[in-house]
Parts: sequence; C-alpha cells; structure tokens
Amino acid sequence: MLDGKKVLFSGMQATGNLTLGNYLGALKNWVTIADEYETFYSVVDMHSITVRQDPAELRKRARTLLTLYIAAGLDPEKNCIYYQSHVTGHAELAWILNCFTYMGELNRMTQFKDKAAKHADNINAGLFTYPVLMAADILLYQSDVVPVGIDQMQHLELTRDIAQRFNGVYGDVFTIPEAYIGKVGAKVMSLQDPAKKMSKSDENPNGSIYLMDDPDTIIRKFKRAVTDSEACVRYCEEQPGIKNLIDIYCACTGKTPAETEREFDGKGYGDFKMAVGESVVSVLKPLQDRFAELSRDKAYLDSVIKNNAEKAQYFSNKTLRKVQKKVGFPERIR
Ligand code: TRP
Repeated sequence: MLDGKKVLFSGMQATGNLTLGNYLGALKNWVTIADEYETFYSVVDMHSITVRQDPAELRKRARTLLTLYIAAGLDPEKNCIYYQSHVTGHAELAWILNCFTYMGELNRMTQFKDKAAKHADNINAGLFTYPVLMAADILLYQSDVVPVGIDQMQHLELTRDIAQRFNGVYGDVFTIPEAYIGKVGAKVMSLQDPAKKMSKSDENPNGSIYLMDDPDTIIRKFKRAVTDSEACVRYCEEQPGIKNLIDIYCACTGKTPAETEREFDGKGYGDFKMAVGESVVSVLKPLQDRFAELSRDKAYLDSVIKNNAEKAQYFSNKTLRKVQKKVGFPERIR
C-alpha cells in the first residue's frame, strides 16, 4: 500500500517496434486501471541487454517506448514512468535475490530455454538470471498487483516463491504480488497467420500493425489480411482470420462480436476489412499525434524522466535498505 492505494508494477522491453497487439493487449489496459493504483510503469532496458543490442538503437527505442506510455494516456504526474537503468536498486536487489534463487528453478523457466535455443552463441548468465531481475523490479516497490501476459506467469510465480522464501527467513519483508487478472486484454493474432500471436519480431511486416504505421499502411495491411472461405462475418473458431479481425474491431470500437455480426450481415469481407482498418486508424492516429507532439518537447520529456526516476529511487530505497539490513550488511554511517 502506498498513500492508501495498492501498488501496481509492470514493465515492457524496448526491443522491436510495438504492435497493435502490445497496445490492445497491454498498454491500453494499463491506462484503464491506472487510477485505481499507485503505479510504476518501467521501461526495462536492463533486461534488454541479455540479448546483444545496438547501443544507439536501444537508447532510441527506450525513449520511444517511454514516450508511448505517455501518448497512450498515462499521466506521468500520477504514474511513475521511468527507465529501469536509472534506478540503482533494481540491480542491487537482484544480486541479493540471486542468492535466494536456485539454479534448478531458473533451469525450469521456459522463456530461458526458448531464448537459449534462439541465441545459442550467447547464453550468458544475465539471460539465465533474467527472472531474478524481474522479481527485483516487482518486489522493490512492494507491489500488490502485476499485470502480465500469460508468457510471463511463470516468472511471476517464481517471484512469489522467492519472496515467500525470503520472508520465511527474515519475517514479512516483501509483499507477495498477485497477477492482475482483470478484464482480459484483447489477444491480437497475426494478420497473415491467425494461429500466431501478432509479434514485434515477425519477419513478415504484413502480419503486424505497428503503432507508428501511417493510415494508408494500416488500411493496406487489413485489406491483405488472411480471411476464411465462408465469406460471411461470423465469430467462430472455424474462421480464425475473421475472428481475429472481429476481436480487433471490438477492441477499437467497444462493440461486441454479436453487434459486429449484425452490422456486417449480408456484407462481404471487403467492406468489413475496410471498417476494421478504419477503426484501428481512429485509435492509433490520436496516439501518433500525441506522440509527435511529445517528442518535440524535449525539455518536458527530460523533466518527466528525471523526476520519475527520483521518485522511483526514493520508494525503492526504502525496501532496499530494509533488505540490506535483514541480510546483515553493515549500517551506513551518516
Ligand atoms: N519480462 C517482461 C516481458 O518481457 C518485462 C518485465 C520486466 C516485467 N520486469 C517486469 C513485467 C516486471 C512485469 C513486471 O514482458
């Protein structure tokens, strides 16, 4: 609890270009629930270097992502939006938590196994202990809730195990975080292969709508989207392409699948795809305009970055000092 509110923590990596899937599945929900919580939304740049990055590119993407958080509607006065690497406690707590995490636990992490297979020439220790840094992110702020996708649930479970283990030895030091399970965010699939999730790292750019795609590109990609053979707009598992388009349309318009079926009753795929494209443009265009406006105001963004890093540093230090004391580090002389 912080100022009478529960604490919420989440973060995203600044790797790849954010897609409509990231927006409708995560960022949009962050905005919706923000007011109910004391929130920390981090750009987790320290996690990104577990895989080799181009430095200039990483810096640029990190700033883009942070700006997007604000453009999407997170007020940086009310939400602590900051770079993980600007707050020293993440690495410091991660070290301590490393000493409370077993090799066997980390060996079981499916994301580690996947990434190790994908980056076989660079299976570094950071990749292995990635989940411990994530645990530090969460526990550092005594977070109550963590909105995460299904792919991060295993990491959150491990976070809870580490926290409970630590508390078991030293008393109630950490709040045990829960996954935020609210209204499910839309799960957006690839426009070219509806069996696959829309992904930042898809080699086929026509499968994904990027948040920065211009209106013409968005419409073009929807026109080319894979559909099915029934030639009618019906929401069912047998038509995964159309189902995905209906989900996107509903997420952008607030309509239900049943309303959408009625709206397009007797109409062809062409009309429907056009309408989906336009609904997405109507959501992304204001976000892009706001992004452009924010990007021009360097001084403002810099002040947000500085002030929120200080705020995060302040709150995280409270937990860190307590933990350092518990494990037996000598007191600081002031
Ligand atoms: N590992 C998360 C991802 O790739 C990002 C992340 C890092 C995160 N630290 C976190 C998410 C803490 C939630 C809470 O999606």
